[in-house]
Order: sequence, then C-alpha cells, then structure tokens
Amino acid sequence: MPRLPPAPSKHPSVLGVDIGGTGMKGGIVRLGHGPKSGTLRGDRFRLDTPQPALPATMARTLAQIVSELDHREKAPDADSRVGVCFPSIVQRGVCRSANNIDPSWIGVSLQDTFEDALQRPVTVVNDADAAGLAEARYGAGAGVPGLVMVITLGTGIGGAMINDGVLVPNFEVGSLELDGVMAESRASAKAREREGLDWPEYALRLQRFFSHLERIFSPDLFIVGGGISKRPHDYLPLLQLETPIVPAMLQNNAGIVGAALAAHADPADGLLR
Ligand code: BGC
Repeated sequence: MPRLPPAPSKHPSVLGVDIGGTGMKGGIVRLGHGPKSGTLRGDRFRLDTPQPALPATMARTLAQIVSELDHREKAPDADSRVGVCFPSIVQRGVCRSANNIDPSWIGVSLQDTFEDALQRPVTVVNDADAAGLAEARYGAGAGVPGLVMVITLGTGIGGAMINDGVLVPNFEVGSLELDGVMAESRASAKAREREGLDWPEYALRLQRFFSHLERIFSPDLFIVGGGISKRPHDYLPLLQLETPIVPAMLQNNAGIVGAALAAHADPADGLLR
C-alpha cells in the first residue's frame, strides 16, 4: 500500500489568505499534528474584494488583512511566509487565466505583486489546489491512498488532483469542454443560481460532469467542496457513480488552511511541486 508523506512534526502557526472574486479572507492556521491541527487560531478576517478586482487594489486589501492578523496575540513572526490562494491557474507564481477575475491579471506575477505589498515572502497557489491540500492533509482525504479529486463548486468549478498525497497542480476541470460548453458554465453553483435550477435539475448536470470525470480519470474518491458542500444532502444522494463521493470537511476554511500549508510545505514533504 503506498504511503502518504509524513505531516509536519511541529505546531507552527502560519498566515493563510483565500482570495476570491467577491471576498478575501485570512486566518492564523495551526498546522502540525493533533486534534486541533488544520484549524484557525481565532476568527477569520474577511474583506470584500475591491471592484474592479485589479492587481493594485487587491494587493492593498491583502495587506490590510495581513496587518489585522499580524496585530493578534497569536500571530506568527511578522516576517514569516504567508500562504495565499487565488482563483486562477497559478504557474510558478504567475497568473495564467482569468475565468472569474479581471483579465488584467493574466501574465502578472502574483508572487511579486503580493511580496511587494506585504514586504515578506509569499507562496501563491490556485484556490482549489489549496482546498485539495487541506482536505488531503486534514479533511475527507486524510490518509486516503490512490487518486483523490477535490472538486469545488462555487462561482466557477475548481479541481485538485492528489495522487498518494502528492498534488498535481492546476487541474482545471471547470474549463473542460462538455456538451459544447465549458463545464463550469453549466454545473457551477453560480450556474444553478443563475438559472434557478432546483436540486434534481442541478444534480443532472453534476451527474453528467462527475460521470465524465470518472470515465476519464478513474479516481478512488471524489470530495466536493465550495459553499455548496454545506448542503450535501440536497444533491449527493441523487448522484449515481462508481466512485465514492463525499462532502469536504473543512468547508469555508479549506482555502485558508491549504494556503498556509502550501507556504509551510517542505519540498521533501511531497505535497507540492
Ligand atoms: C478557475 C480555477 C479556479 C476555480 C474556482 C475557475 O474559474 O479557472 O482556476 O480554481 O474557478 O475558483
């Protein structure tokens, strides 16, 4: 049986920030082992994403969030690395797509922009990758060998692919073309709201999407995250799949926790590229 990489051995506190199209939220994350690991020390802090969501304005909002967290008693050192997750393809720190954010981000180094704003080291990862890391380490995927797919249903559809505990980054399943359109334009939580679909109607769309993923990738487990993971009874029982499918456990904090995990990851850990 393949073994998952060992968890970090201490209980470090790391700042994690989850950047979305409507809100930006951060927290002090308790990593390491033990019953409380993967949880926040204190409340999370949220600010609206500035509109338009441009690099300069978002970097300023990020700095406000980090400054609030820095002033807390349990804050890590003010020069410690911050983990940030972002709703786009993030390739070696650079934004490579803009399905749900301002197109001016494309080609911009997220890492340089945020490091300039914070004056400290920053690790940036895709938001679904962050949720995937958090679920694989502390949530529904903890200790699960084989291929785990974390799918987040929100404004878009995010995906994380984790094989034996190792993340394959930027698994953009929301951009998969299905029945002639981008999958997320029909099956995201936003599409459900926009089109006023009831749960059985929405479940048909999810059925089409998840069966397709199942056929192409043969995963061992699907984990469904995003805001919708709070209501699993409305749609999970309606899906008929070979692959077990379970709701995410970290829900709203998965991005914050995963961003912190990415910032703290030792390359030897195997969690990140
Ligand atoms: C983006 C992904 C992101 C997902 C969830 C999609 O539109 O292309 O990169 O992970 O939305 O935010």
